[in-house]
Amino acid sequence: MDKMPNTIEPENVHILVADDEPAIRDILSQVLGKDEGYTVDTACDGTEAIDKIHKDYYDIVFVDLRMPGADGIEVVQELKRHSPDSEAVIITAYGTISIAVEAVRAGAYDFLTKPFHIEEVKLIAQKIIQMKSLKQENVYLRERIKEYSRRPSIIGKSEAMQEVFHLINSVANTDATVLIKGESGTGKELVAKEIHYNSRRANKPLVIVNCAAIPEELLESELFGHVKGAFTGATSSRVGKFEYAHGGTIFLDEIGDMSPRLQAKILRIIEEREFEPVGSVKTIKVDVRILAATNKDLELALQRGEFREDLFYRLNVVPIQLPPLRERTDDIPYLIRHFISIYNKKVGGAVEGFTPRAIELLQKYQWPGNVRELEHLVEQMIIIHQKGMIDVEHLPPRYRTIESIQQFELEALRLGHTINLNQVMNTIELNLIQSALKRAGGVKSKAAELLGLKRTTLIEKMRKYNIEAH
Ligand SMILES: Nc1ncnc2c1ncn2[C@@H]1O[C@H](COP(=O)(O)OP(=O)(O)OP(=O)(O)O)[C@@H](O)[C@H]1O
Ligand SMILES: [Mg+2]
Repeated sequence: MDKMPNTIEPENVHILVADDEPAIRDILSQVLGKDEGYTVDTACDGTEAIDKIHKDYYDIVFVDLRMPGADGIEVVQELKRHSPDSEAVIITAYGTISIAVEAVRAGAYDFLTKPFHIEEVKLIAQKIIQMKSLKQENVYLRERIKEYSRRPSIIGKSEAMQEVFHLINSVANTDATVLIKGESGTGKELVAKEIHYNSRRANKPLVIVNCAAIPEELLESELFGHVKGAFTGATSSRVGKFEYAHGGTIFLDEIGDMSPRLQAKILRIIEEREFEPVGSVKTIKVDVRILAATNKDLELALQRGEFREDLFYRLNVVPIQLPPLRERTDDIPYLIRHFISIYNKKVGGAVEGFTPRAIELLQKYQWPGNVRELEHLVEQMIIIHQKGMIDVEHLPPRYRTIESIQQFELEALRLGHTINLNQVMNTIELNLIQSALKRAGGVKSKAAELLGLKRTTLIEKMRKYNIEAH
């Protein structure tokens, strides 16, 4: 939804005229239909009017107050009940205030007193259409506001993130190609969105393509589109993502996984902003801003000949490097607060926060999954504990250290507080297994030996704690 709705075309305005006098039906059909260009239908009594209202949608219904079958007020009531968006205009020979009040109370928009002037009829119809188009615009704007508020905010107080924000601000309003780098879960997609929504293209589409998730044969037609019959299975032609992103931004996620052949095609788009759909000789020109992201080391891929050098330099015009979470631990308390407010609302929890001790512990953790992992941890804690403060003892074993047991559980016992022995044992087991694996360089049989376990037992335990040997 990126196009402001146009004003309603006259032929798309459907009007019903319900009057038992043929002369009134004729004159209204003439004025509203032939002169104004609206689509007009007629009914010769109240019963027929109600019947038609049930079968079709009418934007406006002109209805005579006194008719055989159902009278005008009943028709209006039925219209508003069945189709609340429709508007009614009562036609009456008795232009009294009491009739007007009764009509409006029944839900009519206005009333016309016989004999009326044709200009009056036109004016009423125009007023109603204008009001409806304003309503539509209002709905559209509300949707846009909702879309805008769906934009996630990026949290980052650390110096490293402040630098990222500075870069985002300086490139957002240009058309420069940006390459966003960083480990998995560091917020690359979030940065791409931030750039798009702060650019002059914000009202145009942001098209996201995950180059790693789509098989190579499909990726080409996904990006560039194809014509009917271009390959087996291409039963109809299809518009590609680049064309769809026209005027807006395309975000090529995981670009490091793109095949050399597609890399060449992408290079041409970047240089010339044009391409041909699969199976077509017609060149399509597009106006798109290109953002790309990768968690791979592209410089290394260059050296290995897996990534085109020319493409790399075209993409790398403005590189934005997102630091891993373990290098910006100052952000952890702010991110926790941010995710608590999101997930309390989402899952109906009332968690107040994490204790300083829990935060301190989390700041020592390595965060292989970066911010995404922290987000999932907060969500999990809210689901499990629902309310109160999250303390060290609540954290899953992988976030805990053996030292923390001394600091926390031993201290708790000394003060006569309860602890969870099973959790403590898990923490010790997990930590010792990790240390052994590290010492054994990831060789499981060696680690098992260090731990005095059978290899199969170690593997079982690794599975239990979701540990991978590195
Ligand atoms: N600085 C941040 N502030 C708030 N939320 C963040 C931040 N960084 C990441 N997130 C959240 O963490 C999750 C992962 O972020 P995102 O998808 O942008 O990471 P990514 O770098 O694209 O990861 P991947 O390489 O796995 O695709 C998202 O839910 C995102 O909203
Ligand atoms: Mg991503």
